[in-house]
Amino acid sequence: MSLNMKTLSLLAVASIASAATTNTNLQTTFPKPSGTTNLAAVKTVAAGGSLDGGMYQWDRSPSTCNDQSEGGDADAVFILEDGATLSNVVIGPNNGEGVHCLGKCTLNNVWWTNVCEDAATFKQSSGTSYVNGGGARGAEDKVFQHNGGGTVAVKNFYATDIGKLYRSCGNCATQHARSSTFTNVRVEGAKVVAGVNANYGDTTTIKNSCLKDSSICWIYQGTSNNSKEPTKIGSGPSGTACVASAVKTSGC
Ligand SMILES: *[C@@H]1O[C@H](CO)[C@@H](O)[C@H](O)[C@H]1NC(C)=O
Repeated sequence: MSLNMKTLSLLAVASIASAATTNTNLQTTFPKPSGTTNLAAVKTVAAGGSLDGGMYQWDRSPSTCNDQSEGGDADAVFILEDGATLSNVVIGPNNGEGVHCLGKCTLNNVWWTNVCEDAATFKQSSGTSYVNGGGARGAEDKVFQHNGGGTVAVKNFYATDIGKLYRSCGNCATQHARSSTFTNVRVEGAKVVAGVNANYGDTTTIKNSCLKDSSICWIYQGTSNNSKEPTKIGSGPSGTACVASAVKTSGC
């Protein structure tokens, strides 16, 4: 190893170590990655474990992005087993599925650029998964896809130029009454913050947030027939499936 390479790898270790303080505040500037890591296969974070990505851009090579066709766990960059935490990561554009949480998970200061199929998929059977800080930009369709049960709690998240920030699965074979919360999020240029299925008892709460050029929520009649598409039956806070409080659409 040349002296230069040694210095570089020491610097890389130092920058990973210095990411020990994780900023989970609302941030509206996308971070400049401190380096790039391309994975040939999905990386699994074991149950209860944690991975600090050191603000590197993590991606797949060769790319697993196949536009809007639904991929699987193997197309993700990270698989998080139950109770795992992922921090300080930028997910690059060359992957189909971003993060797959097989159980409850926590995503702290995780960023996505040019989302392919979706940014993160939550498959827990019950309990709460957390998204604290971070952001996503450039998603043709969904950012957070909730296929399991329980709650997805998103706070201090920034999203711009996206389709849906969140969708409770419209046509999963096993449907659940899913819950979701969005607190102090900033969404600029989106179709909608949350899409939920009223017929399965979903509830979403959006509070203390700033939405520019985005609907708050869309209400669907979901189906458990995976060959069918759900039907959109309403828009806006209904008071039951969708509750909004202290949501600003201007002056914020
Ligand atoms: C699911 O939907 C498809 C397409 O409409 C239909 O052909 C099929 O019979 C449905 N399956 C069930 C179990 O209802």
